[in-house]
Amino acid sequence: MISATDIRKKYLDFFREKGHAIIPSASLIPENDSTVLFTTAGMHPLVPYLLGEKHPAGTRLANVQKCIRTGDIEEVGDDTHLTFFEMLGNWSLGDYFKKEAIEWSFEFLTNKKWLGISLEKLAVSVFTGDKDAPRDEESAKIWQSFGIPKERIAYLPKENNWWGPAGQTGPCGSDTEMFYWSGDSAAPKKFDPEDKQWVEIWNNVFMEYDKQADGSFKPLKQKNVDTGMGLDRVMAVLNNEKSPFETDLFLPILHKIEELSGKNYTDDPKTRWSMRVIADHLRTAAFILGDQRGVVPSNVDQGYVLRRLIRRSVMHAKKLGVDKPFTREIGEIVVTEYSPAYPELEKNRTRVVDELAREEEKFGRTLEKGLREFERVLKKEGSLISGKSAFDLFTAHGFPLEVTEEMAKERGIVVDAAGFQKEFEHHQELSRRGAEQKFAGGLADHSQEVVRLHTATHLLHRALKNVLGEEIEQKGSNITAERLRFDFNYKEKIPADKLKEIEDIVNEQIKKNLPVHFEELTPEEAKACGAIGYFEDKYAMLNNKLKVYFVGDDKKGFFSKEICGGPHVEHTGELGGFKILKEEAVSAGIRRIKAAVSANQKK
Ligand code: SER
Repeated sequence: MISATDIRKKYLDFFREKGHAIIPSASLIPENDSTVLFTTAGMHPLVPYLLGEKHPAGTRLANVQKCIRTGDIEEVGDDTHLTFFEMLGNWSLGDYFKKEAIEWSFEFLTNKKWLGISLEKLAVSVFTGDKDAPRDEESAKIWQSFGIPKERIAYLPKENNWWGPAGQTGPCGSDTEMFYWSGDSAAPKKFDPEDKQWVEIWNNVFMEYDKQADGSFKPLKQKNVDTGMGLDRVMAVLNNEKSPFETDLFLPILHKIEELSGKNYTDDPKTRWSMRVIADHLRTAAFILGDQRGVVPSNVDQGYVLRRLIRRSVMHAKKLGVDKPFTREIGEIVVTEYSPAYPELEKNRTRVVDELAREEEKFGRTLEKGLREFERVLKKEGSLISGKSAFDLFTAHGFPLEVTEEMAKERGIVVDAAGFQKEFEHHQELSRRGAEQKFAGGLADHSQEVVRLHTATHLLHRALKNVLGEEIEQKGSNITAERLRFDFNYKEKIPADKLKEIEDIVNEQIKKNLPVHFEELTPEEAKACGAIGYFEDKYAMLNNKLKVYFVGDDKKGFFSKEICGGPHVEHTGELGGFKILKEEAVSAGIRRIKAAVSANQKK
């Protein structure tokens, strides 16, 4: 087995040899950035330098960066999703560009002294080109010069081979990505990016543009390179394991959970899922608590994420039959395993383990009562737990929304997440901006992809009403860079022809390239103009006025009017083709649609 310690060391040694200064991992809590709660990529803390500020350590940098992404928290337990991960990265700040970046990536991946991956198992993708930037023949040629055959090079559009900006504006550019063949059979000659057995392991971004607020791409003063390699994925594929949980990133933690629960990781899928959730969440919690800017559990911001992670673990431990306090012991293991790479953990060991234990204890005090209250609510409310009840369970018994949702799901019941969010907003008086990041119903970030999907959500909402009836109401929404997810009331499976009709209506609005704008209206004005959405929505409310987004123009009549905090695209043509990926039941009377859009074709 190749250990995580080995890979981190090899990576940093290699780039040191290539003249890079090794910089420490920045804090998980971003500085001077209110748009996200956590550092989400290695380049994130480097944005000022990518824009031209001088970095004290020079123009070649490398590190291993701690990152947190909680957008897909409910998927944790499968083979790929994690809330915390480490990103190996190297950067050129106006120094080297494509040739060296690709040459070094190739050398590091294939040379026996480093990872020693056989050429047979590698494939790459490059940018196919569009109106904003040319086709990247240069990178393709460089790959070929090292022996990557033509059939193993895919040319892909912006949605695959473009990275950034991290927010709505900022540094970005096309990228070239490296894939590893993880299948048991020999790798096919031709690279098919759709085949999941090709696992993306590394991304070299050629950051040469600064995206402007008007959507245009201005060349940067300096051409930069930003690369990122997820340690967890590399660990899984190089060790020939299904997931990072079967590697030394997690095994010591999982062994402890086995010991505490008296169960085996391999007993059954449910046991494995719960063990993975506990290991993932408490590892992340330990990193947040042990961070150089560590925070403690609370009801706001990062503290709230931390609280959710710990409490969710406690619920899963309960399922495994763990009947005594356990988080302290897991915390000790995480600190011991990871402090050689992250010394701040050892320094903050007491805070990590004490705060874990304290939060577990606090939750434990209200848990039994809360469970009884949950049963009472179920009896009273039937198939949909109201936002108000979910919020009461949170304030009185400390059940984070996800915990209530998970318990409800086991009974085939859904929780009004948007209603919970509204209550939460009302009580916390959080800033509009903060609110948009924080909750399952809000925007995960303001990246182009997310903003496009956000506008697509409004189009879908309207199209659903047009096709299925005005009584359709939003019951929840969640957007990641890859897809939108929309929950709504409808009693049965939606027939394929209706789905197609809905999809067509959305695509028509995209084709028409309709303008999008917002107006600030009083709730009465909003109601009078026929806007849909939450009228009491506190986070869309500014000076007692609601923000209402309009899609279309006055002359022809608006396609959609919806109360919302934003942000949205300026024209629907910024969305490419809209596609419904899945339609399914969430519970009795509630359906869920997952959909995606391709990158913008025009503005
Ligand atoms: N920023 C790019 C990524 O997150 C490369 O580091 O993948």
